[in-house]
Amino acid sequence: VAAEKGGYEHFMLKEIHEQPRALKDTMLGRLEEERVVLQEVDLTLDQLAQINKVYIVACGTAWHAGLVGKTLIERWAHLPVEVDIASEFRYRSPLVDEHTLVVVVSQSGETADTLAALREAKNRGARVVAVTNVVGSTVSREAHDVIFTWAGPEIAVASTKAYTTQLEGMVLLGLYLAQVKGTLLSDKIGGIINALKRIPAQVQEILDQESLIKELAKSFVKVEDAFFIGRSLDWAVAMEGSLKLKEISYIHAEAYAAGELKHGTLALITEDTPVIALATQRDVFDKTVSNVKEVKARDAKVIGLTYKGNTSLVKSVDHVIYIPETLDELAPILTVIPLQLLSYYVSVARGCDVDKPRNLAKSVTVE
Ligand code: G6P
Repeated sequence: VAAEKGGYEHFMLKEIHEQPRALKDTMLGRLEEERVVLQEVDLTLDQLAQINKVYIVACGTAWHAGLVGKTLIERWAHLPVEVDIASEFRYRSPLVDEHTLVVVVSQSGETADTLAALREAKNRGARVVAVTNVVGSTVSREAHDVIFTWAGPEIAVASTKAYTTQLEGMVLLGLYLAQVKGTLLSDKIGGIINALKRIPAQVQEILDQESLIKELAKSFVKVEDAFFIGRSLDWAVAMEGSLKLKEISYIHAEAYAAGELKHGTLALITEDTPVIALATQRDVFDKTVSNVKEVKARDAKVIGLTYKGNTSLVKSVDHVIYIPETLDELAPILTVIPLQLLSYYVSVARGCDVDKPRNLAKSVTVE
């Protein structure tokens, strides 16, 4: 087993470190200078012209990837997107018909809830695109179109490289839809492609600073509650960061839209609740900083997360984790890396079973 872990103490740590490779493999052969190529997706302009709504349906971490997908598809392809939890979607008679594009996201391609949602969508006449990591999986066989993520086998229950490659899948799908519809000019697509190509090396840059995160994790050993806040795409990543901490370290964590805190949850913030504030999205940066000040005023210890080169966040927080600069739409792939490492080291420090957390399964094949 030690050999399978490639010298790492846990599968999770190994898989965190495999992300630069997984992200590279997932873009391989799919990026031209100003065009994306998705071999297993075949949507014509005529077909897309008939689509008036997109649903992204998934569970757990894959659902979190869908939340990022929503913003990308709306922003780039100008289609309205709803993101739904698979076990909810299926039982509320969703307004889905032949004018709906349903995107199912599933690492394993076998999750019962997601599969049931896929079948429901097909029955209602929707076109179904799957984003999945397993070739030959039920989801990949039953969907009309497939975007495979090339993360390779993920063993640890807590998803890491599957999530970041799903995010990449969302970027590819968003660009593809925009390209077919003509809602993004090719030089804009070219710019995003260039930024995407730099992501694997930038992930590596963050991994090279692992020791800083390990040090930070020590302050979480006795923590009982933690908050993750952010706006826009930062909020979506906050949800994934909070899920990681909950599932492997058993610390109660909540993710909140930074601007919504003041409508109730702020009452829970004390000096004993660390707050991780994601502040990358440039269009809402100042607003996020105002929300950080609200929690600082309640004596919370705040760890901020922003781009290298941002000199202002440091003034409002106790500690800053910096990520390399990129386009805001691609930032989630970078911001989640320190959060994965933080959860990992907190889990280790608390003596938890990192790879096999209590009560959880890697793939859930019951509804
Ligand atoms: C389980 C796993 C999660 C995963 C979810 C969806 O609950 O523990 O890590 O996100 O299933 O799995 P899928 O294979 O459909 O992505």
